[in-house]
Formats: sequence, structure tokens, C-alpha cells
Amino acid sequence: MFLHMGKNFLITGANGHLGSVIVEKLAKEGNNIAAVVRTPTGKLVFDNVQHFVADLTDDDQAKKLVDDVYAEFKTIDGVVLTAGGFAMGNLETTGKSQLEQMFAVNFYTAYYLVRHLLAKAMQQPNGSRFIFFGARTALDHGAAKNSIAYAFSKALLFQLSGLVNEIGKGSNIVSCIIVPSIIDTQENRNSMPNSDPSKWVSKEDIASMVSFLCFETGNPIRDSSIKMYGNI
Ligand SMILES: NC(=O)c1ccc[n+]([C@@H]2O[C@H](COP(=O)([O-])OP(=O)(O)OC[C@H]3O[C@@H](n4cnc5c(N)ncnc54)[C@H](OP(=O)(O)O)[C@@H]3O)[C@@H](O)[C@H]2O)c1
Repeated sequence: MFLHMGKNFLITGANGHLGSVIVEKLAKEGNNIAAVVRTPTGKLVFDNVQHFVADLTDDDQAKKLVDDVYAEFKTIDGVVLTAGGFAMGNLETTGKSQLEQMFAVNFYTAYYLVRHLLAKAMQQPNGSRFIFFGARTALDHGAAKNSIAYAFSKALLFQLSGLVNEIGKGSNIVSCIIVPSIIDTQENRNSMPNSDPSKWVSKEDIASMVSFLCFETGNPIRDSSIKMYGNI
């Protein structure tokens, strides 16, 4: 792939509602994107977007992905981890398999990548930026009681983001966690037809925040969680 002059990003969940908007924004700004998908769809065709296929719940696939992206890009300046999933469930209905499923899709998908990526990113003279996606549910017990496995799995990402900051201290590694309430996606509009989407947070606003955090504008920021709750 011909590399543009911009920064190099690895973005997971690149097919998703939010991930696809972030890929498009950063690609249009002239950056090079490793767009990681689990299921190839052929969407998001730009000459500075290269697709990589991996099931990130698999440690070996995560390692191969990191090796493949580094072979192609040489450095990764921003890691944007949007891969994730949601499930309802209270104490009665949430057992081992429900917990494992949510831990896999929300935590393992981020943890395995970080595990294989961080040491390489720390070798880069300019370090790297890591952006995780938590959820308001992880910080709000009222909401968490009806989506217990989701809430616990997202809560772990706050710890992971903090750990990345701690390990990467002194190597210009900066990690942030963005905490959306409800994102205005077609899926959410379909599943909550009686809610007012104007109160939700837009994908475009989140994509702008990612861009802000990953460029010089974000340089003074350290170890932050950014609540993007819209007007909820
Ligand atoms: N939507 C909301 O209201 C909301 C609120 C709070 C937080 N969040 C968080 O924000 C992030 C983006 O949300 P979204 O609505 O854009 O979600 P989405 O449309 O469901 O996209 C999530 C993406 O994650 C990918 N993914 C899932 N499991 C994977 C795996 N094992 N390996 C690799 N990729 C995997 C999927 O890839 P494939 O399509 O390729 O299968 C999917 O495209 C998520 O982390 C979500 O939890 C969302």
C-alpha cells in the first residue's frame, strides 16, 4: 500500500456503526488506516485504508494481526478499539456463558491487541495513542443491573486503559477511554423507537474527539476518561 503523509492508525470494529465513521473521518484527513474487521464486507474503500481480518477474541489472531500491520505500516500512531458488543441480562439470567461471551467481545478483543502491541509502540520515538470505548453502564449501577455482563466487561477496560498509561509512562504512550451513553446509530433507533435520538451522542462527534485526542491537540491530555453522554 502507498502510505500517505499522515499518521498511521489501527482501528478495530471498522465495519461497525461507530468504527466505520471513525475510519472514514481519519482516512479523509489523509491518514493511513489499518481497518480491522471480523467479517469482510468490502465497505470503506479508500486508497489509504487497508483491511485486515481477525477475530480478536483469539490471542494468536491478535498477535498475527499486530505483526502484519507493523510489517505494512512500520509504526502505529493511534490505536482505536471500537470492537465490542452488547447484551441484556440481570443477576438471574447472567451466568458463566453470558459473562464469558461479554468478556470475550469487550475485554479480550482489546486486551490481546494491547498485549501484543504495547511493547512495539513503546519503541516508537513518538509513542502512540490508545483510545478505548467504555460505556456509561459500567459507571452507573442503575443501568448496570439490567446488563450485568456488559457492565462488568466494559468496567475492565477502564483498568486496561489505566494500565497502558502506567506501563507506557515515559514512552509517550497516552491512553484515553471514551465513555458514550447511547450512540445515535440506526440500530439504536430501530430498537428504541420511542426515544429521542437528538439526546444521544453522534458518531461524528465521537470521531472528532478521537481525532482531537490523537493529534497535537491531545498532547497535554493524560490518563483521561471522557464522558460523551450527549443530553441524556
Ligand atoms: N452503540 C451504543 O449506543 C454504544 C454505547 C456505549 C458504548 N458503545 C461501544 O462503542 C463501540 C462501538 O459501538 P457500535 O454501536 O459501533 O458497535 P457495532 O456497530 O456493533 O460494532 C462493533 C464491531 O465490533 C466488531 N467485533 C465484534 N466482535 C469482534 C471480534 N471477536 N473480533 C473482531 N471484531 C469484532 C464487529 O465486527 P464485524 O462487524 O466485522 O463482525 C462490529 O463491527 C463498542 O465497543 C460499544 O460497546 C456503544
